Amino acid sequence: MRLENKVVVITGAASGFGRAAALLFAREGASVVVADILDKPLAKGFEDDLEHGTADLITAQGGRAVFVRCDVTRRADTDGAVAAAVEHFGRLDVMFNNAGIYRGGKLMDAFTEDDLDACFDVNVKGTFFGTQSAVTQFRRQEVDPVTGQRGVIVNLVSTAGLQGHPMQSVYNISKGAQANLTRCAAIEYGAEGIRVNGICPTYAKTALTRDLYEDMAFMRSFADSVPLRRWGETADVAQLALYLASDESSYVHGDLVRIDGGETLCRYSV
Ligand SMILES: NC(=O)c1ccc[n+]([C@@H]2O[C@H](COP(=O)([O-])OP(=O)(O)OC[C@H]3O[C@@H](n4cnc5c(N)ncnc54)[C@H](O)[C@@H]3O)[C@@H](O)[C@H]2O)c1
Repeated sequence: MRLENKVVVITGAASGFGRAAALLFAREGASVVVADILDKPLAKGFEDDLEHGTADLITAQGGRAVFVRCDVTRRADTDGAVAAAVEHFGRLDVMFNNAGIYRGGKLMDAFTEDDLDACFDVNVKGTFFGTQSAVTQFRRQEVDPVTGQRGVIVNLVSTAGLQGHPMQSVYNISKGAQANLTRCAAIEYGAEGIRVNGICPTYAKTALTRDLYEDMAFMRSFADSVPLRRWGETADVAQLALYLASDESSYVHGDLVRIDGGETLCRYSV
């Protein structure tokens, strides 16, 4: 019960990393607000059960969860997700800004303004608004006398935020901005008892990467280039999110934690 009595908002929790984290967090005792534009997993996802929404699954397993329709590109919606946490569960302890979209497959000169705007709207603005909504609520809450903490923010960034990759510049640029957003927020809010960290996975099997995974040549060449020789799984990322959300990481702050099987260590593997 590593998140016992904690109240968590997870954006983009209908599918992928967000869904895996919501299910894990609930099993660890958290009350979860599942905040997404969709109430069911994306059809391209690797989930076993594509029929049931995340909140429904959690409550069926005896946990506490509520679904809130939330488009993170709108500040009113991220405020609404935080308000739902307070209304249903009494407070907010963790904001997990996970919702994100991908655009790839083109050189920089071939991307449209829409591609660029879409990545910035969801990945950057969404994290920015989620942070603003969470900080506003955290300031209404007392500092925990044991942890010295008011609340925790976890941002789902990417190794794409730490380095360049070919054929996905608009995504990488947005993730780079999200990485720096994480650093800025950590600097500004640490003294108020608000911990902020980012998670940087490499390619993992979700709806977002389904097309890349089904490109057999890419799928194999990527796995071969990673020292651990495999793609990431949603469970890998959910476990790191759990650590960063919990009090176990109470002195980890402003970090961008890689979870990439060693991908970013070296360009070539033996
Ligand atoms: N899958 C990977 O390989 C990978 C690697 C590194 C980082 N990431 C990042 O992880 C995060 C989650 O991605 P995923 O792979 O689980 O993707 P996914 O496509 O499986 O799930 C994304 C979820 O976000 C939701 N969403 C999209 N736009 C939204 C919006 N405007 N408001 C609210 N919800 C919205 C979708 O409905 C979906 O449920 C993203 O930020 C992504 O950039 C993914």
